[in-house]
Parts: sequence; structure tokens; C-alpha cells
Amino acid sequence: MSDADDEKFGVYIHWPFCLSKCPYCDFNSHVRHTGVDEARIARAFAAEIGATAARVPGRTVSSIFFGGGTPSLMQPTTIAAVLDAVAQHWTVAGDAEVTLEANPTSVEATRFRGYRSAGVNRVSLGVQALDDRALAELGRLHSAREALDAVAVARSAFDRYSFDLIYARPGQTPQQWASELTRALAEAGEHLSLYQLTIEPDTPFASLHAAGKLKTPGEDTARALYDTTQEVCAAHGLPAYEISNHARPGGECRHNLIYWRAHEYAGVGPGAHGRLDIDGERHATATEKRPESWLMRVEARGHGLVGDDVLTREERCDEFLLMGLRLAEGIDLARYAELAGRALDPARIAALHEHGLIETTPAGRLRVTMPGFPVLDAVVADLAA
Ligand SMILES: C[S@@+](CC[C@H](N)C(=O)[O-])C[C@H]1O[C@@H](n2cnc3c(N)ncnc32)[C@H](O)[C@@H]1O
Ligand code: SF4
Repeated sequence: MSDADDEKFGVYIHWPFCLSKCPYCDFNSHVRHTGVDEARIARAFAAEIGATAARVPGRTVSSIFFGGGTPSLMQPTTIAAVLDAVAQHWTVAGDAEVTLEANPTSVEATRFRGYRSAGVNRVSLGVQALDDRALAELGRLHSAREALDAVAVARSAFDRYSFDLIYARPGQTPQQWASELTRALAEAGEHLSLYQLTIEPDTPFASLHAAGKLKTPGEDTARALYDTTQEVCAAHGLPAYEISNHARPGGECRHNLIYWRAHEYAGVGPGAHGRLDIDGERHATATEKRPESWLMRVEARGHGLVGDDVLTREERCDEFLLMGLRLAEGIDLARYAELAGRALDPARIAALHEHGLIETTPAGRLRVTMPGFPVLDAVVADLAA
């Protein structure tokens, strides 16, 4: 077994509020003009952490991730209270990664040192673009300068930081993207997340797209933009370790690796998902999405669960393939065989090999090739059939 297969346990905490809703975003994020009762939400987080720990006691937490929404709207004291609750119910590893997603405005940057004192040791900033016009089109509330200033504060406050960019934006050419990405890499630490703009259903971007008022790059340009991303990042020492994530070796986001390596994690807060191992079975958990309903549920029952399904062996195996094959390290075939009770079909592996869509790593793991990534879903469907 390699390091990838060592069992890890992560805790995800969802903060569901934002100052405004970006027109491309379909995350569980809400705008509340009347303000939110943070102390009340912190108590609910602590209650839900306690309820989860009662189901999966004795775990050692290797990663905690505050995602959103905009968790950088939380007060550092709230973060500290949540981290206390986690430490009260589980053991937290001495080298645990504690990440907070932050929007890159000057207001949030002023809180970074408070977050560090509270126990956060990594931030992930949503820079999105280094071009003010593109930022305005994306409905962002910050300029490129402001975002880069926030990155500089993050760099001075934390040993580890990352930022996100969205590419394949309307009208973007591979040349423009290469130059924007090169500028971004000059500001990057050990990690960057680079997402192709996705038109999510029921968003303002989806309506504009359907009306022909927002044109995303065609297949060929999107492919060229993807290839540019891989080339420029690899040349700067941050190769892709996952479809959209790039890191210097050792700088990978350990929390996200828990998802992709199909390890165990607790989901806390509105609309959070979890995967818990109870009595030899894997449970897929989901909490109530609407913040106010979640709060009332937690206050009434001690948790906000609305879904708790035991995954069938087949579902577990499909998830293992779908997640693991996103990673450049690929999957351990023996771990798959153990989960599935049978090996993957050698004839299917051979056919996909022949088409150049998968390959075997020197360590004997199975992974998707660069040409295979754009058709990952089809590769997984074929292997799982
Ligand atoms: C949950 S968001 C939170 C980040 C933070 N609230 C912010 O916006 O700065 C995580 C990331 O998902 C990416 N994202 C969200 N919607 C997307 C979309 N439709 N297409 C591509 N990337 C998207 C953005 O890069 C964003 O930073
Ligand atoms: S992209 Fe970030 S700031 Fe914008 S709505 Fe989504 S979660 Fe909120």
C-alpha cells in the first residue's frame, strides 16, 4: 500500500453565506441582507460535530476544511469555536491541515492573522481572474489588484496558500490565458486550482448562454486552453495532480485528496455531504441545504441530516473509480479488487489502453492519460460496466 491508501479522516464545515451571488455559481450560497446570527450558527456547528462524532468516534482528524459560500465572512472567534468542538470530540493530528476558503478583498485580508491565531494554517482564495473586465463580467466584487494584495497578505500570514482562477471565459484565447496564467504563477505558492468555466443550470449565466448572450469557447478552443494550462503549469513546476488542481510535489491539498482517494469525511453545516464508515458499511450523508431550515433542524434534533444512505458495493466502487481516476496518481488496482470483490475486466483495460485513454504507472497503478481526461466520465463508465 502506498501513502495514498493510508486511511485518513477529514472534517468539512460549510459556511453558506456570501455578500453577493456570482452569476456563474451554483454552490449552496445565500445572500442575507439582514445579517446572520453567527454565535447561533457556531453552536449548531458544534452540536452537529458532536452528533457526527457519536456515530464515528475515535477518529484522528488529518484535515479540516471551511468551505462555502464565503467562510472568510466568519469571525476568527467562530472559527476557533468550531476547531475547539472538533478537538473536543476527536483527536486532531499534530500536523492537521486546516484550510479556509477566502474571497480576496481587503476586508477579508484583515482577518487573516486572526484566522491563523485561531488555528487555520492554509487559505484558498477565489481570485478567479487577473483582468478587471473579466472580473466584472464574472460579477466579482474585487479588482485584480485587490485580489493580488490579498494573496500577498495570505503569503505573509500562512506557510501554505492557494488561489483559484476560472478560465475558458467568453472570448478568451489560449495566448491571453497563457499570459494571465504566467502572471498568476509568479504569485503562486505551492498550489493553484484552475477551473474551466462551467455553465451551471439555473444560474444567470445559464439564461444568458441560452439566449446567445454569453458565448463560451467551442470544443477546440476549450481543448487548447486546457492544454495550455497543463503546459504552462508543468513548466513552472506545478503539474496537475488532479484534473483542475496543480501543485508542487508535496503541496497538494490534503483535504481534497481525502475525497479523491475515497477516504472518510464528516460533512457539517447546511448542504454538506459526508462519507462515514459505520459497522463496515459506507454511509453517504447529506444535510438540509437551506441555512435557516438546517439551523432549526439542528436545534430540534442535534443534527441537520436529511440523507443517510448505505452505499451498495457497486456504488462504492463506481465512486472509487470516478474520484480516483481524477488524480494523476491513479488508483490501486488491488484496493479496487478488494472493494469490488473482483478485479477490473482486463479486456476493457486493454481496449482503453489501446485507445491511449489509460496507462499503468511505474508503481503499477492505473491512471487516465492526458487525452483521456476530457472524456473521463466515459472512461469510468466503460471500466465500471
Ligand atoms: C465554493 S467557491 C468558493 C470560493 C469563494 N467564495 C470565492 O468565490 O472566492 C470555489 C471555487 O469554485 C469555482 N467555481 C464556482 N463556480 C464555478 C463555475 N460555474 N465554473 C467554474 N468554476 C467555478 C471558483 O473558482 C471558486 O473560487
Ligand atoms: S463564487 Fe464564491 S462568492 Fe461567488 S456566489 Fe459562489 S461561493 Fe459566493
